[in-house]
Amino acid sequence: MPPEPVQYRCRNRIGFLLIDNPPVNVLAAPVRTGLARALGAALADESVRAIVIACAGKTFSAGADIGEFDGPMAEPTLQAVFAAIEASNKPVVAALHGLALGGGVELTLACHYRVATPEAKLGLPEITLGLIPGAGGTQRLPRVIGAAAALDMIVSGAPVDAKSALNLGLVDVVVDGDLMLGAERFCQQLIEQGAKPRPTGARTVEVAGFDEAGIAGILRKHSRALKGRTTQQLVVEALTAATQSDFAAGLAIERRIADHSITTPESKALRHLFFAERQVSKVPGIVSDSTKAPIARVAVIGAGTMGSGIATACADAGMAVTLIDSHAGGMECGLALIASNYESSVARGRLTHEEAARRRGRIVDSLDLGAAAEADVVIESVFEDLALKQSILSKVAALTPASTLLASNTSTLSIAELSRPCRDPQRLVGLHFFSPAHVMKLLEIVRMPATDPAALGRALTLAKQLKKVGVVAGDAFGFIGNKMMLDGYWREAELLMLEGAAPEQVDTAMESFGFAMGPARVNDLGGTDVGTKTRVELFKRERRPDPYFVIADALTAMNRLGQKTLAGFYRYQPGERQALPDDEVLSLIEKLAVDRGIARRWIESSEIVERCLLQLINVGAHVLETGVAMRAADIDVVWVHGYGFPRRLGGPMFHADSLGLAHVLGRIEHYGARMKNRNDYWRPAPLLEKLAQQGRSFANWDSERIAR
Ligand code: COA
Repeated sequence: MPPEPVQYRCRNRIGFLLIDNPPVNVLAAPVRTGLARALGAALADESVRAIVIACAGKTFSAGADIGEFDGPMAEPTLQAVFAAIEASNKPVVAALHGLALGGGVELTLACHYRVATPEAKLGLPEITLGLIPGAGGTQRLPRVIGAAAALDMIVSGAPVDAKSALNLGLVDVVVDGDLMLGAERFCQQLIEQGAKPRPTGARTVEVAGFDEAGIAGILRKHSRALKGRTTQQLVVEALTAATQSDFAAGLAIERRIADHSITTPESKALRHLFFAERQVSKVPGIVSDSTKAPIARVAVIGAGTMGSGIATACADAGMAVTLIDSHAGGMECGLALIASNYESSVARGRLTHEEAARRRGRIVDSLDLGAAAEADVVIESVFEDLALKQSILSKVAALTPASTLLASNTSTLSIAELSRPCRDPQRLVGLHFFSPAHVMKLLEIVRMPATDPAALGRALTLAKQLKKVGVVAGDAFGFIGNKMMLDGYWREAELLMLEGAAPEQVDTAMESFGFAMGPARVNDLGGTDVGTKTRVELFKRERRPDPYFVIADALTAMNRLGQKTLAGFYRYQPGERQALPDDEVLSLIEKLAVDRGIARRWIESSEIVERCLLQLINVGAHVLETGVAMRAADIDVVWVHGYGFPRRLGGPMFHADSLGLAHVLGRIEHYGARMKNRNDYWRPAPLLEKLAQQGRSFANWDSERIAR
């Protein structure tokens, strides 16, 4: 029988309420019921003079159950339980360890005192879910740390450590050693001093710094993370209520705003991503191999930009790395790149000098492929040349035991092709890292039909250890992300340019929609030649030239390779990254359009955004239908983490569901008719057609597949 989610015991005049709801002590309905019951027992017990609320396991509490937000919260609500705790006539002390997040912090704020271990952290991450703290947090926190500090903490969404919490007055004592003994000691002092309960709601709010200028300054500080978001305004509204209304009225206002925040499209999208990011690692038929020894030694072959970035990512994750390259010159460049990455992390204050040196020290170099023999995982990351990669992989397969995971970092090549000469191809996976590999969170893990489930499990473990979001993709051209980018989004962007939109107009439209960077700018950053090389591979594999996807190829032919040659879709001044429109490019585009008989016209930004998105969604449906992506939610995670799709919209497939698939289909048909379905671009994906006609969504499709 599972243990009670809240256990109660009494020792030395103190009632201990222990929340035990693994894995992260979410305050779900049974916990709330248990807390109310245990509190009642402690209050009824005359021998009890003070109460401690603590949590079992590795962490205090991750707060409210996010899964409950889709409907009304079951009784007793968090608000009711917290009100009962605050109203206790015996002092209540929260004893914190690990993380206290969201409702976890609000629980501690309803207590009268807080003690914490030195490594405890407290945070209100609701804003990352498009929510405001809705269980008293916006009313109690400003009463404890002041309204300005509360605004800063809530809109940052980031946790503060115990020391900062102590300085803010958010915790009363940081206890070294055993937390329960520390909490007990603290309670004994309260009892001896005859200390009374200290209800937070009875405290006044410090308003210094919470005026118009102060609020604007705090919001400005977080403006980058909050670009395009609206929840911060709701936070300001709720905190303003704390400064202007009495506690009960403030709680009522918070309740109204919190209920509204749950219903916003922004919050629904962000909650979707929260669960999608956790679901990606769950692959039917793949048992987690987390019980196995962690991956400790990695060999990375190829010291180019990607290989050096991958080596850095592995060293950052604590692994011992052997970086291998057959050319001394190439190795020197790679090592210099690694050193400069660490230097810039130190310069930006992200790492201490000592920590950077420790991480750098985990990387050793070798010019001998044989140095890969001892590794748990070998990641080949030489340039995109099939024969070269095949030769390296087959040599590595011959010199490593069958338990070693083999991986090829590729964005274009077929993993099945790559594995062909290997002695045991079933232990090979593709790993599509994104550049810079030590920064970007996304990792596409490519499996072929022959890939052994154990190898896939190991690759998922690798992603987890690297703190990356590992998404499993099928072995088809471009996997999930590049297929949708090249065969849908970027192709449409180029067609729009041929029809009359300037590159900067396309970029501005997509950036205003929320993309981190528009397609022409991304092309210039990565190199137009990279896209061209990929397209050549695409057309070769799918045997279909594309007469309208030609601008970047023409730029490549003119050696306008992007930022690295100071000219691409834009031109650049030496040493600067600012993209400057270039008449030469406009003339080129005009000529390409004339050659193809395309009449040019003024195009509205709304059409640019709509057509690019529709293509993205339509190809996404193909990717889903062909099984290259397992779930629509996986596609969303790929696009948000790897391609700069705005997080607040939940990813392209979630966005399609929000628009309604019947509407999406209707618009695809509209453009198909208007543009005479040129080159078959506007043929709706059969899955999209089917779902739209049945009145279903991609989310329905996902849940039916998961249920199976
Ligand atoms: N509500 C519902 N489920 C939650 C949850 C919450 N507040 N917090 C965590 N979980 C679930 C996760 O979905 C996951 O479930 P799964 O195993 O079925 O996939 C499980 O708890 C473990 O979480 P995970 O994120 O995989 O563990 P972790 O150790 O990497 O991280 C946390 C732990 C607490 C840091 C992280 O889960 C987190 O940030 N949670 C959200 C906290 C939050 O935003 N609270 C405010 C809610 S309004």
